[in-house]
Amino acid sequence: MSKEERQDWTRHVHNLNGMLHQEPVATIAHGFFWYLLLLITCPLMAFGAIFLSAYRLLDFYLWNREILPKDYPDKELGVFVTGCDTGFGQELVFSLVSKGFTVFAACLSEDSFKQFQGEPRIIPIKVNITSDEDVRKAYETVCKWQKDDDKESPKKRHFHALVNNAGCGRLSLIDWMEVKDFEEIMNVNFFGTIRVVKAFLPLLKQQAATGSYKDARVVNMISTAGVFAGGVLAAGYECSKHALDAYTTNLRVELGTFGVKVTKLNPSMHKTALAESKNLIGGMRKIWDAMTPEHREEYGEDYFNAIAEPIETRAGRLYWDKKYVVEAMENAVVSGNPPERVMVGLDARYIVYPLSKLPTWFRVNIIQKTPAIMTQKPKAQ
Ligand SMILES: *[C@@H]1O[C@H](CO)[C@@H](O)[C@H](O)[C@H]1NC(C)=O
Repeated sequence: MSKEERQDWTRHVHNLNGMLHQEPVATIAHGFFWYLLLLITCPLMAFGAIFLSAYRLLDFYLWNREILPKDYPDKELGVFVTGCDTGFGQELVFSLVSKGFTVFAACLSEDSFKQFQGEPRIIPIKVNITSDEDVRKAYETVCKWQKDDDKESPKKRHFHALVNNAGCGRLSLIDWMEVKDFEEIMNVNFFGTIRVVKAFLPLLKQQAATGSYKDARVVNMISTAGVFAGGVLAAGYECSKHALDAYTTNLRVELGTFGVKVTKLNPSMHKTALAESKNLIGGMRKIWDAMTPEHREEYGEDYFNAIAEPIETRAGRLYWDKKYVVEAMENAVVSGNPPERVMVGLDARYIVYPLSKLPTWFRVNIIQKTPAIMTQKPKAQ
């Protein structure tokens, strides 16, 4: 294509773009686009789903390979897990140790170390993932362990998995939150995870580049909040997890080029300290209490209680056992070919994920029904 032809072509595209943005052409073209797209893709996707299921069954029964230390008697495999004070992290540590891994259990508080006492293959480390220094020291501990390999045992030591599990959340209306409230959540869930990944990249790259270990992976705990927004009251959490989801997709693509696998876990609400109603309401109360009296007056204490009440009474009943999440984490750690994304929980898979693909008006008006926050309007100023 000559330069003139290219310019001509660019002009055409610009003209078309301009035309398609004007009514009534815009609306007609939009409708026609979706008509064509759905007409063609829906039948294809239905067939695709059947083939995908068949492929996954074969994958599970025929090609499924687990990487367990007991199957590699000459290797000692290390896993680094963040957020091991309670919840998923804490349970994952014990289950990975029982499978033969050496586990570095990163805890926010040293008080949590005692739960790991008496187990030589659990190495607790104090890590606040918002601190550069903490994360650097933790990384050095892992590197030192890996370099020590021929001193303590004849086994070769490899770094097998980085599990980014640590996270925090707050429930609140957007209007109640200061910028710093968003920053606080982003600092842990998003920048904290990035900090840990950044710290461990040299080791992952070195193992890949020297070919010394080819099964290393990163597992990021994301939650359904990474794919679904508008869950009501969870804007800060959802923003941080959407950002983390996008980061993790990029990480999978980039690290995939040298053979490091990356998996996202998207569980729905499961029973952990983070999801306990007293913690959810306590966190919301903190934000509420930090507001100016005038700001609180716009809503009133009754309003606060009205949105806290369903969290207190109803939310608890929806929670699944956290063992399903721990199993999914374990699978991501041991699978020979860990998937890109695992939705954990029936609701995550069959309700939240499809809902996230539907228009917001449909979800809010038809499926989610009217939560308390939609029925009570703040007083006008
Ligand atoms: C984690 O570190 C940040 C600063 O890096 C600090 O503000 C925060 O209080 C620490 N959190 C805990 C629980 O120690």
